[in-house]
Amino acid sequence: MEARKFVFLSPDYGSSITENGCCGSGCCDFEAVVLSGNAKDITNAVKQRYGALAERAGKRGLKASDNKASDQFYSEDQRLALTDEAAGASTGCGNPVKVADVKTGETVLDLGCGGGIDCFLAAKSVGNTGRVIGVDMTPRMISLARNNAKKLNASNVVFKRGHIEQIPQDETTVDLVISNGSISQSEWKHLVFSEIFRILKAGGRFVISDIITTEPLPDSVRDSTARWVEGVGGAAVKRSYLTMIEAAGFVDVEILEERASTRGNEEWSSSVVNLTLRAHKPAK
Ligand SMILES: C[S@@+](CC[C@H](N)C(=O)[O-])C[C@H]1O[C@@H](n2cnc3c(N)ncnc32)[C@H](O)[C@@H]1O
Repeated sequence: MEARKFVFLSPDYGSSITENGCCGSGCCDFEAVVLSGNAKDITNAVKQRYGALAERAGKRGLKASDNKASDQFYSEDQRLALTDEAAGASTGCGNPVKVADVKTGETVLDLGCGGGIDCFLAAKSVGNTGRVIGVDMTPRMISLARNNAKKLNASNVVFKRGHIEQIPQDETTVDLVISNGSISQSEWKHLVFSEIFRILKAGGRFVISDIITTEPLPDSVRDSTARWVEGVGGAAVKRSYLTMIEAAGFVDVEILEERASTRGNEEWSSSVVNLTLRAHKPAK
């Protein structure tokens, strides 16, 4: 399947011209996606919610031991290796680092890194010869993550503010992309996968945990900004999620873990699943 190419025209960047010179007018083979209307509301609501969480975690209002997500997905050893602020702000839906086989010297990039929990775990495995880059659009999460890096003395980790639909990273520079509970909040998952493909080296891989569904969600859930912020409103149906990954050019897509989500008891809740999967960019 031939990979489609997209450009993401975000108002945050103040310009409709992208780094490859595309104006999004449809005169070339890139498809332009512009953040507008309800999408802007979702983006702003996500920033507000995660900004507030970062602030609480930064003020030590959240402890690792109080956090259901970190409790559920991370071992005690992993949590003890982190600051309370990093583990306390954890809102992922899996533990991608546990199954990513991170190697010494690798360059790893985490999409929607939040307070940096998975970045710090990956940083231990890549060691001094490797590096980890966390990307998140919420300014207060990036500040929290940078403070956490200082406290943990994690000199091989950097955090960049940016959108996962337009990753601030040069092409073919990354060995492994990870993500935990963030792609489901994007309305342009096809763009995210095409960006992952762009930044990965040939033969590189991504390992992500994300929220998906087995059945289409009711409109009332999909249209709810609050549900999007939780990650549920934007959860794609599994088949279409996998199709987007293949359409971006990935091969050897492998489901590593699939667990019914424990959230809510609405009629549709039973179709919500926490999925962890791996896929590769072809070696040539
Ligand atoms: C559910 S939290 C998960 C955070 C982290 N991965 C963890 O496991 O704790 C989702 C994070 O993704 C970020 N995010 C959501 N949509 C994004 C987008 N389109 N671009 C960049 N960051 C995004 C949010 O700011 C938030 O910090």
